[in-house]
Amino acid sequence: KNEPLVMGIETSCDETGVGIVRGHELLADAVASSVDEHARFGGVVPEVASRAHLEAMVPTIRRALDDAGVGLADLDGIAVTAGPGLAGALMVGVGAAKAYSIATGVPIYGVNHLSAHIAVDTLENGPIPEPAIGLLVSGGHSSIMMVEDLAGKVTQLGASIDDAAGEAFDKVARLLGLPFPGGPYIDRAAKEGDRAYVEFPRGLSAAKDMQKHRYDFSFSGLKTAVARWIEARRADGEDVPVNDVAAAFQEAVCDVLTRKAILAAQEHGVETILLGGGVAANSRLRGLASERAEAAGLTLRYPRPKLCTDNGAMVAALGSHLVAAGVAPSQIDFPANSSMD
Ligand code: KG4
Ligand code: ZN
Repeated sequence: KNEPLVMGIETSCDETGVGIVRGHELLADAVASSVDEHARFGGVVPEVASRAHLEAMVPTIRRALDDAGVGLADLDGIAVTAGPGLAGALMVGVGAAKAYSIATGVPIYGVNHLSAHIAVDTLENGPIPEPAIGLLVSGGHSSIMMVEDLAGKVTQLGASIDDAAGEAFDKVARLLGLPFPGGPYIDRAAKEGDRAYVEFPRGLSAAKDMQKHRYDFSFSGLKTAVARWIEARRADGEDVPVNDVAAAFQEAVCDVLTRKAILAAQEHGVETILLGGGVAANSRLRGLASERAEAAGLTLRYPRPKLCTDNGAMVAALGSHLVAAGVAPSQIDFPANSSMD
């Protein structure tokens, strides 16, 4: 087949990911994570992440090539996350990709991590109808993206003005004594809890905030509200109902995320919403977004949970799309750009 064979390299945070795709077909998705090394710090330590990438980079590339049963010389492109992300972590992936590109002559594509989170959906659900709205929610980002052209024009309509959604999940998990990263644990606990147990604040949803921050989010007030609520409970000598607090917190996050994503789609005349990023693995977010999208007559798409969290397949998926669209490769001296937007 003539579809582009592309290797994608992802090192923006704590996952060393190498994926290989042919067109929209996923051939390999090798991921090495340093998450356990960060757990005791309650967050990702950049220096630790960079060192772990350096150790895992070449073995993970070898594993992906083995899994896919292809050789470097077969590749039509090497795509790599150029940003946004942790500077030192990005440099490991970008450096490796450049070295492989120079050694093999395979063209290199430095790509945006957020666009890659959106592109990964093509591996599961095929080409993305454009325009589409992307709700991108991870440990580092909570953005509403307008995808006019996945190969060139992806712009941000709004974003969190403080904590990312995943960060809020991780911080609240910590308050509840759950392990890091807390998102999946809150998700699980919430299944046994009552989402209406407490009504936690929905940030930037009041009429006055909807003028200036229509598609923006704020989660730090929510985290503080949960912390105060837990403190007050403990001060009264009462137990904290972990499952109920998890469910009520999760509801507050999912409520604003889905409400604003749907509003953005409606106000821009867009019919498709895509979920991406680690928090898109959340079962309540997927459920509530499905319900509300259906009620609004919109199409909702999301990939399987494993493709929502950081991985190389998403970078390969975007790379394959760029090659197929005839986009020119990057110049070999492109930088790692930690604040790329
Ligand atoms: O996309 P990702 O793997 O890395 C970043 O680019 O940040 O996202 C990681 C984040 C973490 O904050 C983690 O707690 C959250 O995604 N997460 C979840 C779930 N699975 C992962 N949050 C809520 N529910 C989940 N099931
Ligand atoms: Zn990510």
